[in-house]
Amino acid sequence: MTGSQQYHLEGVRKVFGRRQAALEGLDLTVARGERVALIGPSGAGKTTLFRMLNCTLRPTSGRLRIGGQEVAELYGRRLREMRRRIGTIYQQHNLVPRLRVVHNVLSGRLGSWSLLGSLASLARPSRPETAYRALADVGIGEKLFSRTDELSGGQQQRVAIARVLVQDPDVILADEPVSSVDPSLAETIIKLLVAISDDTRKTLLVNLHSTDLALSYFPRVIGMKAGVKLFDAAAAEVTPELLQELYSGHASEARADGSFQEQVHQRVAV
Ligand SMILES: Nc1ncnc2c1ncn2[C@@H]1O[C@H](COP(=O)(O)OP(=O)(O)OP(=O)(O)O)[C@@H](O)[C@H]1O
Ligand SMILES: [Mg+2]
Repeated sequence: MTGSQQYHLEGVRKVFGRRQAALEGLDLTVARGERVALIGPSGAGKTTLFRMLNCTLRPTSGRLRIGGQEVAELYGRRLREMRRRIGTIYQQHNLVPRLRVVHNVLSGRLGSWSLLGSLASLARPSRPETAYRALADVGIGEKLFSRTDELSGGQQQRVAIARVLVQDPDVILADEPVSSVDPSLAETIIKLLVAISDDTRKTLLVNLHSTDLALSYFPRVIGMKAGVKLFDAAAAEVTPELLQELYSGHASEARADGSFQEQVHQRVAV
């Protein structure tokens, strides 16, 4: 069964310095090709979780397996190979503004290019047709040679998606990919990500502030609060009461009475 599992987390905990745990006792299994939305208030631990899922952070304790591989055992080249199989789209795009779009898109390949090859490609893109195809897939093929900082926020987000297409990973993690665009464009971009994961059978995990988008486009929705999973349910089972509980109160207040995590564990056990 492990072969069909993309992610398997057991008791994952992450603590930064001497602070309260950013994630606590997290169990999670995601199948290959699955589409999952993560929702929850600011500071819930969503980005921290994504950074572990793309192997840029290691859990403080607990187990993290990706495609059956124990991540704690990966170092050097094997860790880099694992990272290359996971494409991340960030809210701030992480594009280089002054470069032409084609260069930003092709940088999705950096993981699999030699340093020399990558540098040479900055001077003259070696595979502009690859970049063009990815840009056409996200609807902005004509922007291939535009300067990235001359594009709108939504167009830049599409460039970031095109870059992940060029990377061709097994998993796409999108961390609040639509919080800087207007609602109708947000929906278009989410539809685009869902269509890409459908067509290519890539696993798709998205952190979203919009519960509407999460419930409309994702069959499975996970609610995170104060570092723990409040629920992990089919979208149809996420009730308004559950959403109210997710966003109610302040995370630190909820923790202060000591009962919050117990409530959560009861909830999860239901
Ligand atoms: N590098 C870091 N060093 C110290 N603390 C951190 C670090 N990264 C995250 N944290 C803390 O971990 C907790 C979870 O943060 P995280 O960014 O994962 O939340 P989030 O759910 O993504 O919130 P948002 O919706 O605002 O993006 C927060 O209390 C945050 O301050
Ligand atoms: Mg975040």
